[in-house]
Amino acid sequence: MTSTRLLPVPRAVRRTILVANQKGGVGKSSIVAAIAVAVAKRGKRVLVVDADQQGNCTIRDLGVNGSDEGRSLAMTLQYGSALEPVLDVREGLDVVCGGKLLAMAGTVVSNAEQHGIDPRHNLLTALEALIESGRYDLVLIDSGPGDRGVLDLLLQVVSWLVVPTKEDDGSIDGAELLARRYLWARKNGALVELMGMILFDCNPRAVRRNEDTLGKIMDLLDGTGIQPFRNFIRQDKATALDARAFHLTPEELINFTPPKAGDSAGGEDGPTKRWSRDTEPLASDYQALTKEILVRLATGERTKEAV
Ligand SMILES: Nc1ncnc2c1ncn2[C@@H]1O[C@H](COP(=O)(O)OP(=O)(O)O)[C@@H](O)[C@H]1O
Ligand SMILES: [Mg+2]
Repeated sequence: MTSTRLLPVPRAVRRTILVANQKGGVGKSSIVAAIAVAVAKRGKRVLVVDADQQGNCTIRDLGVNGSDEGRSLAMTLQYGSALEPVLDVREGLDVVCGGKLLAMAGTVVSNAEQHGIDPRHNLLTALEALIESGRYDLVLIDSGPGDRGVLDLLLQVVSWLVVPTKEDDGSIDGAELLARRYLWARKNGALVELMGMILFDCNPRAVRRNEDTLGKIMDLLDGTGIQPFRNFIRQDKATALDARAFHLTPEELINFTPPKAGDSAGGEDGPTKRWSRDTEPLASDYQALTKEILVRLATGERTKEAV
């Protein structure tokens, strides 16, 4: 049984995309960070909400200084207090941090009704207020694997869902489980719409294999009229390692030179060696995917408004 209660009037937060898959390691955090930075770089205002207690997006991908380890988001869910993002993680990009304090949120969400609280209403209200005051053009929510209560709640709050998957059966099973949660949420009045699925960590040269994987994704989407994203994210372990070591996205790594050992500007203990030579191909995958997502968002939001 889930504790997510329905509001009398269905509501969803506009221009808000949840990136989710029931399985970990399928690129959720990497994708959220890369798209957020890419959109902010182009002069838009972006908010990232890291709803994962691992906090990878906050710490490893974006390198947020002064993370509250999920405290603000947990307090919002439980008490309806205002969300407090860390500002200017990059120019135009603010982050509501994830981290271990969100573990408590899972329990709160699961026992909400018992305690007479409505975490969904709390999050909706706080997010709408923050979006208005922060004038965000786009909100991206990263989610953790597993925690079903929090996932169901997020599905009741966002307007869009994006599902990344790797080609292995485990990741596709995770996407399928997520698709079931999505259908359940819709049945219970959620306004969320599936925007598409993204193939992550794939080999661009394995054309036949990628077609086969896309076929499996199409089967999952059967009858929805939704196409998987045309652009996929290629495998590039060296760039992925550097991205997390230096807390930069593949695009930011293009012109990045690591600090020399002992260079105070880079910090005494920071990494000084980079493994990747050419981060452009992966960066351009993300640029193309970002464009595709923004186009689908604009078209989708227009359609919603018209309705
Ligand atoms: N393009 C890539 N190719 C290969 N591995 C990648 C790539 N991008 C990220 N990774 C690695 O894949 C792992 C899972 O990515 P992550 O974004 O943390 O997934 P999730 O948030 O779904 O758990 C991480 O170790 C990350 O460094
Ligand atoms: Mg993650």
